[in-house]
Amino acid sequence: MCGIVGYVGPKNVSEVLIGGLERLEYRGYDSAGVALMPHSKEDVLIKRCVGRVSALKDALKSVTGDFAQGIAHTRWATHGVPSEVNAHPHKAGRTFLVHNGIIENYLEIKEELQRQGQEFESQTDTEVFAHLIENIRYKLLAGRDFESLSLPEKISNVLESLKIGTQKVEGHYAILVMVAGLEGHLFGVQAGAPLVAGKLTDSLYIGSDLQALLPHLSDMHFLPAKTIFAGQINHLDFYDFDLKKKEIPMSRIDWSPDKIAKGGFDHFMLKEIFEQPSVVADTLSGRLPTEELGFLWDDLEKHKDLWKNVDRLHFVACGTAYYAALTAKYFFEKWARIPVEVDLASEFRYRNPVFTQNTVVGVVSQSGETADTLAALRLALDEKVKTFAVCNVPGSSISREANVNYQTKAGPEIGVASTKAFSTQLAILSALAQDVARMRGTLVNWQNEAESLARVPLLLEQVLTQSKTYLDMGASLERFKTILVVGRGLMYPISLEGALKIKEISYRHAEGYAAGELKHGPIALIDSSTCAIVLNPKDDVSAKTLSNLQEIKARSGWIIGLGVEKHDAFRKECNEYLALPEADWALSPMLYVVPLQLMAYGLAKQLGCDIDKPRNLAKSVTVE
Ligand code: M6R
Repeated sequence: MCGIVGYVGPKNVSEVLIGGLERLEYRGYDSAGVALMPHSKEDVLIKRCVGRVSALKDALKSVTGDFAQGIAHTRWATHGVPSEVNAHPHKAGRTFLVHNGIIENYLEIKEELQRQGQEFESQTDTEVFAHLIENIRYKLLAGRDFESLSLPEKISNVLESLKIGTQKVEGHYAILVMVAGLEGHLFGVQAGAPLVAGKLTDSLYIGSDLQALLPHLSDMHFLPAKTIFAGQINHLDFYDFDLKKKEIPMSRIDWSPDKIAKGGFDHFMLKEIFEQPSVVADTLSGRLPTEELGFLWDDLEKHKDLWKNVDRLHFVACGTAYYAALTAKYFFEKWARIPVEVDLASEFRYRNPVFTQNTVVGVVSQSGETADTLAALRLALDEKVKTFAVCNVPGSSISREANVNYQTKAGPEIGVASTKAFSTQLAILSALAQDVARMRGTLVNWQNEAESLARVPLLLEQVLTQSKTYLDMGASLERFKTILVVGRGLMYPISLEGALKIKEISYRHAEGYAAGELKHGPIALIDSSTCAIVLNPKDDVSAKTLSNLQEIKARSGWIIGLGVEKHDAFRKECNEYLALPEADWALSPMLYVVPLQLMAYGLAKQLGCDIDKPRNLAKSVTVE
């Protein structure tokens, strides 16, 4: 959570920083701030505001001056309420610092600094870190005046303070540091939270995500954990935590900057829903088998080695990515006949999971930086279990650390509610399950399944032609107190995902349930103020779902059915019915989730909610 931006260069510094923060605002948006260093020897200027980046942008309108560089931050509060004083950057002597992540032992460090006479103005762990660095840096000077040092001495003074500081601090975090009197330089530490750096001949850019840098450059360094950096215009040095220099290769990012604009849509979420046909096509493109070639993955040798002898598959993920994994369980079990477990990452990492010698652990993540998912992956790697990732953000920690990465090609997903990333996860997991089944000889007609999968983008286009109907239906849900989304088989994880979409952007009470489970408790919720969205694509559990529908009806629940055009037995039992194209069993999750996404959007819009930035949420959950 939280977004970090840093810039040194000839452009208007506050414009570059604010532009970066706006593109990172999905990471946190309860307060924001900048520290701007003037070209002259005047004091560094700090501006901080409670609320959105737009409030900071307004506050900066009155600021004049010629600035050489700056650091900026948009916050998702962990320690201390959202307030101006708790907003970043924090200042301690010459040190200006922004921070992402958590300093676990900050109270201990704070008390030690307080014993030395240090006073604090905020409740944050960040301010403690700033004072710690400044305290160490000052002591290292041993009475010498910082201004009197040569440039290499100044740089080494800061680097040494970062080295000692990181030894004292516990937790997963990233910091970006600017030091008054050291114009043209920025420093930072990647200790478990992402940092990306890039340079041009006349400038230096730092960000917590590639989106911060994207309009300015496409070649970037994704800093691995345990990296300290010192940067200046056209120059970046990377060190390990003992300050031994190291090389970090540059990665080329082919995300075009127009992908991070709304492109005429009211919200990123709506734009991203409509992008689903094309990003699913991009994700499958070049990977599905042709007559001559089998499935094509980026590194075929690693892929074959990963799945050789697999006897058990363990998926781990959070939120929407977890529901994609839960859907994939049905694919892998049916086609590849592998026992599959699916765990929430926050549970998995603390419950001492059992691995067999040939277990494969797969993590699914849009951002590739979700703290619990990353920790689960590292746990598996520590246990020497083979791992793979299904990850969307290139260069992210999860995509780099897993043994094999199957990249989804959803492009940047800005809306906090995940939509297109989910569809691409389902598409790639489906193709993967088919290929693993092919290799194991458990799916004879794998070519047919792959051909069927290739039709998804077209079917999605067809579903989206009905978008107005789904949006209007969503708006009409306003009258219900509770919304249940129910289904069986593949529709069970989709019901969970549909309910998550409704709650996170409209704040309405919604529950996803396995239809057969209703009578074990949740049926008590049903009365005339309840709407049940029943997902029933005429599959082999369809008749069972119809019986569950009757149970809802008998208790006065209002029923919205989602099914195929020709399914009279279902249609006639529903109060309202939304028809979807007929499709093979494995395609239904990708098709049925789209009306649910649009209904959630329609409801949230009707209720006047902040759709792209729902309250209390952040796109990338980089804290536990
Ligand atoms: O980046 P990840 O896929 O690892 O994120 C996982 C969840 O935090 C994410 O899916 C979250 O649940 C979304 N807000 C759902 O819309």
